[in-house]
Amino acid sequence: MRQFETHSEEETRAVGRKLAKLLPDRGVVLLIGDLGTGKTTLVKGIVEGRGAANAEDVSSPTFTLVHEYGDPVAIYHVDLYRLETLEEARRIGLEDLFHQPALILIEWGDRFPELLPDNRVEIILSHKEGASRLLKFSL
Ligand SMILES: Nc1ncnc2c1ncn2[C@@H]1O[C@H](COP(=O)(O)OP(=O)(O)O)[C@@H](O)[C@H]1O
Ligand SMILES: [Mg+2]
Repeated sequence: MRQFETHSEEETRAVGRKLAKLLPDRGVVLLIGDLGTGKTTLVKGIVEGRGAANAEDVSSPTFTLVHEYGDPVAIYHVDLYRLETLEEARRIGLEDLFHQPALILIEWGDRFPELLPDNRVEIILSHKEGASRLLKFSL
């Protein structure tokens, strides 16, 4: 597993911009880690790196569940934090998204493993001391 340590929000965004070049054009990426570890920040960098939207337009889809960036949509940004049951996850059309020709970035992506395709990239984020974060990639 590749890993990086970042020391600021901007550094995590920069990792996201680099990652944008390594990730496939379509496929599922799970962002796994506690609140505040930088999942949404990393998505900003990936979206910027892909040129799909401006980073200012990227926000956490905590309530809306799914955001779309690009026209046609190049990136779907999903947050499963508020979903409690598998049924709810099915109802938002999670499985349909996996057929889209786009990159699907899923915060709290480890919540419903039964729904996820086997072919996916996992990124695990964790807090270290202060503003440091550890990012591990299954790429
Ligand atoms: N190294 C770092 N990487 C990312 N965010 C950091 C870092 N250090 C401090 N932060 C702060 O942590 C928070 C991360 O928020 P966010 O990306 O929304 O996390 P998550 O989506 O995992 O809940 C932001 O307030 C950001 O400013
Ligand atoms: Mg978030």
